[in-house]
Amino acid sequence: MQAIQKDKLPQHIAIIMDGNGRWAEEQGQERLYGHFEGVRSVRDIVEGAAEIGIKYLTLYAFSTENWDRPRQEVDGLMALLVDTIRKEVPVLNQNNIRLHVIGDMDMLPDFAQAALQESLQLLEHNTGLNLVMALSYSSRWELLQAMRGMAKDVAAGLLQPDEIQAETFEKYLTTSAFPDPELMIRTSGEYRISNFLLYQLAYAELYFTHTRWPDFRKENLIEAILDYQGRERRFGKTSQQVQV
Ligand code: IPE
Ligand code: IPE
Ligand code: MG
Repeated sequence: MQAIQKDKLPQHIAIIMDGNGRWAEEQGQERLYGHFEGVRSVRDIVEGAAEIGIKYLTLYAFSTENWDRPRQEVDGLMALLVDTIRKEVPVLNQNNIRLHVIGDMDMLPDFAQAALQESLQLLEHNTGLNLVMALSYSSRWELLQAMRGMAKDVAAGLLQPDEIQAETFEKYLTTSAFPDPELMIRTSGEYRISNFLLYQLAYAELYFTHTRWPDFRKENLIEAILDYQGRERRFGKTSQQVQV
């Protein structure tokens, strides 16, 4: 952890927590066991991110497309979600962590929505790490609902099409309160974005690791941050221009 340069920390790290199912199957267990074990990694990474001084941590926990998984797995994941929230909220609160949720909450079962609402309220005055859970989230869903919102405001005369700037559009996204992630991590050896933050990741540094999510711990997070700190972020400019 000492090797991390504090003045070059990413403000926002986004993670696609992938590989729970394969991790479990590799040990001859049910996929749900992998999700269960994945919660330990969530705990460790949230704690680690807070210790390191990361301001925003977005975790992709359940995608719009994940609704199409077998019923038993979806139900198990929803139950695990609520169970985890109930257990972890007091710990999050002790650590001054604020919770946010992005995604189509209406799709979640009522008991999950209620548990989330309660936790969001309980943690809303905390000022430490902002933990953003992407649940029933997909980027195309988000972009469409942003465009619908904007179209409605244009139709109502509240917004002029010619006045629409990037900043105007960003206000309609579910992530409007957060800076864009500088670092995106995906575990389990898959090299794709899978409908995650397509707009917001435009200039993120991407970090892929073969480690399955249930094996991903603080030291792996530190490794990813060190890798990020060794990169030159040019934003379209030349190397010389950014080295001043
Ligand atoms: C990620 O692990 C967790 C969710 C998508 C809910 P997976 O369940 O996708 O695990 P693999 O990719 O099948 O191993
Ligand atoms: C992405 O993982 C979504 C989450 C980690 C929540 P998936 O396992 O669903 O993605 P694909 O299907 O491999 O692209
Ligand atoms: Mg997967």
